[in-house]
Amino acid sequence: MQRILTWLQVTSDQFHIGNYFGAVKPLMDMWDKHPDAEVFLFVANMHSLTTVQDGSLRQNTLNTLKLYLACGVDTERVFIYNQADVPGHAQLAWVFNCYTHMGFMERMHAYKDKVGKQKANEIPVGLFTYPMLMAADILLYDATHVPTGKDQKQHVEYARDVAGKFNHVFGEMFVLPEPVIGEEIGVIPGTDGRKMSKSKNNYIWLLDTDQELTKKIKKIPTAAIAIHEPKDPDECNVYKIFKLFLTSKEDVVLRKRYTDGWLSFGEVKAEMIERVIDFIWPIRDNFHTISDEHVIDILTKNAPKANEIASKKIQDVYQKIGFSL
Ligand code: ADP
Ligand code: TRP
Repeated sequence: MQRILTWLQVTSDQFHIGNYFGAVKPLMDMWDKHPDAEVFLFVANMHSLTTVQDGSLRQNTLNTLKLYLACGVDTERVFIYNQADVPGHAQLAWVFNCYTHMGFMERMHAYKDKVGKQKANEIPVGLFTYPMLMAADILLYDATHVPTGKDQKQHVEYARDVAGKFNHVFGEMFVLPEPVIGEEIGVIPGTDGRKMSKSKNNYIWLLDTDQELTKKIKKIPTAAIAIHEPKDPDECNVYKIFKLFLTSKEDVVLRKRYTDGWLSFGEVKAEMIERVIDFIWPIRDNFHTISDEHVIDILTKNAPKANEIASKKIQDVYQKIGFSL
């Protein structure tokens, strides 16, 4: 039986269309592709704590989960639980902390990237040690497949290595997880052409009102090219965002309109506004019908099963390493 394990970060209480196309949609496509697999989705609040430390994790968790549900993530299909509800994550991470060497960890990409951007002595220790927590997230549940971006592949490989080492020393203990690198989604650009990001004020929120998103789309800068001239769609920010909402046939037609000339950016923007509204309003409506209690109910209901699986693993580990007497 395949068990796919995936996570969601709760670093924000808002969600933009870059998050939708970069994170939610690939998730839903993935479980469509593997109809027989079990899918575990956990709220990675212990990871998010490395950056969100003002208490807003609670609201972020409620909003993010509501958005996932509003986008169509089906709780019958996916087992959703809260990482911090399961002490096994911290327990197993500690064991891995003790068995892993500093020199090895310092070679991890994610950490090296951070050191590049921030002074090393200002980085939370939790960010340095998160590969161990991540290995615990995966190995506690006997996950067979872990979908991940290229940036996280090295961490899944670390989980696989550490699992192999423990199995070698202590006998069968962990299932070796397989990293699954999805299709490259690429970076979804924001309204200013840079990567869409909540820190850049170039986003379209999934909860924007029709008026808000209309204003944002109208403001997307376009090239000053005479109307009759052919235009390159790949140089146009309106196109780059609009195409996310188009079928491949519609995409071909739009590209041709660009290259034929006589394309009015105003017209394309008006069509795009209509399409984005059609896409967003059902999500926004669904979102507003989902209560905090509903989300809390799901997590509360699922915590015992997550704990049951995790604590069996912890018992086995504790026995073998000599904690349990
Ligand atoms: P932000 O950059 O707005 O802070 P996060 O880092 O919280 O976004 O990202 C959450 C998820 O959404 C990640 O899986 C990330 O890969 C995806 N994501 C965020 N922005 C984009 C984007 N512009 N294009 C594609 N995927 C994105
Ligand atoms: N560290 C991952 C990231 O920053 C998120 C993550 C935490 C994760 N635990 C995991 C991913 C377990 C896969 C499996 O994106």
